[in-house]
Amino acid sequence: MASRLNLFCLQLLISFLLLLGKNLANAEPQVPCYFIFGDSLSDSGNNNFLNTSAKVNYRPNGIDFPRGVPTGRFCNGEHMQDFIVKHLGFRSYIIPFKKAIGKSTILILEGVNYASGAAGILDESGRTQGERISMNQQLRYHKIIVSKIRLKLGNSRAKTLLSQCIYSLQIGSNDYLNNYFLPQFYNTSSQYTPEEFAELLVDKYSKQIKSLYDEGARKMAIYGVGTLGFIPITLAACGNNASCTAELNRNSALFNDKLKPVIQQLNANLTDAKFTYLNPAPTEADIAASGFTILGEPCCKIGGGGGELCVRNSRPCNNRTQYIFWDGAHPTKAWNNLTAGIAFASQSSSDADPFNIQELAQQ
Ligand SMILES: *[C@@H]1O[C@H](CO)[C@@H](O)[C@H](O)[C@H]1NC(C)=O
Ligand SMILES: *[C@@H]1O[C@H](CO)[C@@H](O)[C@H](O)[C@H]1NC(C)=O
Ligand SMILES: *[C@@H]1O[C@H](CO)[C@@H](O)[C@H](O)[C@H]1NC(C)=O
Ligand SMILES: *[C@@H]1O[C@H](CO)[C@@H](O)[C@H](O)[C@H]1NC(C)=O
Ligand SMILES: *[C@@H]1O[C@H](CO)[C@@H](O)[C@H](O)[C@H]1NC(C)=O
Ligand SMILES: *[C@@H]1O[C@H](CO)[C@@H](O)[C@H](O)[C@H]1NC(C)=O
Repeated sequence: MASRLNLFCLQLLISFLLLLGKNLANAEPQVPCYFIFGDSLSDSGNNNFLNTSAKVNYRPNGIDFPRGVPTGRFCNGEHMQDFIVKHLGFRSYIIPFKKAIGKSTILILEGVNYASGAAGILDESGRTQGERISMNQQLRYHKIIVSKIRLKLGNSRAKTLLSQCIYSLQIGSNDYLNNYFLPQFYNTSSQYTPEEFAELLVDKYSKQIKSLYDEGARKMAIYGVGTLGFIPITLAACGNNASCTAELNRNSALFNDKLKPVIQQLNANLTDAKFTYLNPAPTEADIAASGFTILGEPCCKIGGGGGELCVRNSRPCNNRTQYIFWDGAHPTKAWNNLTAGIAFASQSSSDADPFNIQELAQQ
């Protein structure tokens, strides 16, 4: 009797475990699709297909990526959007546009990554590096993808799907690093004061955001630009001149300070859509609590690309979780994991305003 009861319990346990396993395997992501617009911080391999020096399809890039291979990510491993997509419950990374195009339309129903190293809000930003997919071009590519989705699902189902996706936009650094801060190649710094230039960028950006809304986007996560004076290449260029570093940081702060109220206005003006601002720079307390000890030095030996990328086949630092920066301009996988966790779940309005990514998914 006792053993029969035990057997019954065992069967019950097994069917429970099977059910659990089935549910886990079928777990749906918190949003059906995720589209990525941006620059090298989010590029997953689009630039591999372009004639550009802003390209990282060689070792040691990717050393901490699954299987340890270079993918075109400007990092030793996953970038921030990869981690966010994992947090949302997607089982694979979002496919880069250059790989999606020509492949089955099934793949694009989970979203597409248009991000491209050296790209900016302004078309001309990054031109000294070669080809890149500017924000305007990314939006044109998105129209192609949207029309494919409409063909596949029909207008009504496509509209519903597109309204449920999250659209991530992280761009603007190259409008400074590869435009405004390069007076030998661009005349923007003689034409515009820092205030005027930030205004110009944010004005163009808000039009680009509205055109994405016109294509059916209703949940947009928009990132500010990082503290541009605190990256290895600008720290090296400024030497010990603290006012040089401060001036670069003032420019990125101006951009962010003008972007935030625009996002509030977008929420007020387009009431059937949700927009949120994400701060890409964790607080000093977050940094200290996360065990990063090497702040402004690159992990790899730099000199590749335009000077900011890893030297091909060079040997990187051993303890990569101690470094904020992988190369001269891009953070490590460990840092991307930290910032993704903050963007996804932070309750602080200085990190995410008015929603974190998890809340945006639930809107
Ligand atoms: C790539 O770009 C460089 C410089 O812009 C140019 O000289 C070269 O011809 C281009 N190569 C190809 C294959 O288009
Ligand atoms: C600045 O450069 C652009 C091309 O990059 C050119 O069209 C424009 O005329 C220049 N403006 C000035 C004031 O030199
Ligand atoms: C330090 O940087 C500031 C701002 O870029 C610049 O005006 C100043 O000439 C620099 N000082 C030195 C000693 O290089
Ligand atoms: C929001 O609407 C107001 C009033 O029409 C307008 O002045 C403002 O430019 C709009 N803002 C954005 C970002 O669209
Ligand atoms: C590597 O870095 C982590 C985090 O800072 C630290 O805990 C660990 O002791 C370091 N290991 C070595 C071998 O330096
Ligand atoms: C990411 O960070 C979390 C803590 O927030 C940690 O538990 C996890 O191991 C990290 N993952 C990677 C791949 O670094």
